[in-house]
Amino acid sequence: MKILILGNTGQLGTELARLLPRFGDLAALDYPDIDMADAGMIRSLLRKYTPDVIFNATAYTAVDKAESEIELAEAINGRGPGILAEEAKKRNALLFHYSTDFVFDGEKGKPYIETDLPNPLSIYGRSKLHGEQAVVAVDGDYLTFRTSWVYGLENESGFVKKVLGWSRQHNSLKIVDDQISNPTWARMLAEMTVKVLEKGVEFATERKGLYHLAGAGFASRYEWVKEILALDPNKSEQIATEILPVKSDAFPLPAQRPTFSALNCDLFQETFQIKIPEWQRSLEKAMR
Ligand SMILES: NC(=O)c1ccc[n+]([C@@H]2O[C@H](COP(=O)([O-])OP(=O)(O)OC[C@H]3O[C@@H](n4cnc5c(N)ncnc54)[C@H](OP(=O)(O)O)[C@@H]3O)[C@@H](O)[C@H]2O)c1
Repeated sequence: MKILILGNTGQLGTELARLLPRFGDLAALDYPDIDMADAGMIRSLLRKYTPDVIFNATAYTAVDKAESEIELAEAINGRGPGILAEEAKKRNALLFHYSTDFVFDGEKGKPYIETDLPNPLSIYGRSKLHGEQAVVAVDGDYLTFRTSWVYGLENESGFVKKVLGWSRQHNSLKIVDDQISNPTWARMLAEMTVKVLEKGVEFATERKGLYHLAGAGFASRYEWVKEILALDPNKSEQIATEILPVKSDAFPLPAQRPTFSALNCDLFQETFQIKIPEWQRSLEKAMR
């Protein structure tokens, strides 16, 4: 099996690249060797690599910057996945694609299921929704996994690493408690994806479609931070003695976030017969 990972240095891509070599011949590309904003480049690279399975871990993920880089976010997140899906379909290749809880407005008040109506509040969310729709429109063999609050521990810019850094620099931390979703360890997300592949390309293809796939359960950012600091293996380095819950309007940002965008992942678990670990268990493992 020829496998192509796009975005192999991102949080998710790093973990996929770690797990996938045992499944076949692996090629991996990231920006600038692939530019998802460049349709011609996507097409020619797909012609060159002729993969059987493609993992698209690329994305424009700078949620606030996207508000002023609308066209770039739209090209990478909105149109690029559609081109990829077209090229995959030409070759009967299976495409794994990822989307976000930010396609929802957070007004539902309980975890979202796949058939709930999206209503993105931000340019990022809208561009990712357009990407989902472009993949569906091509109607090739695809699995789109909508996920949420992804963190890896490989780079300093991930949320968990940032929190650990703040805890060593400030006595008091203010964390929003009115944003609620599923913290998702990038490694767990990659492992769940690989479990689907393990069941076979045919099995996966027969179940093509859109699924929610994120850490089980949900938490506010405030609860998440408390858990991160409690599980910190080097707790003695922390100088933060108080963590204060605040509302999102205490930190005005260019992009509006949904308040309650937790994802209900039952459909994924039932369809693929795969159990998703509780977000706290994944965080424990990640911190270890
Ligand atoms: N992070 C989250 O909290 C979160 C939440 C919900 C859903 N998701 C979704 O989950 C998936 C994986 O996210 P992640 O957190 O692993 O993202 P990430 O760490 O930001 O990785 C994205 C990758 O895409 C690359 N990229 C950026 N612009 C590109 C372009 N024009 N062409 C090709 N590659 C480009 C990045 O390269 P550079 O580093 O060089 O820019 C990076 O390697 C994405 O679909 C994302 O939308 C993420």
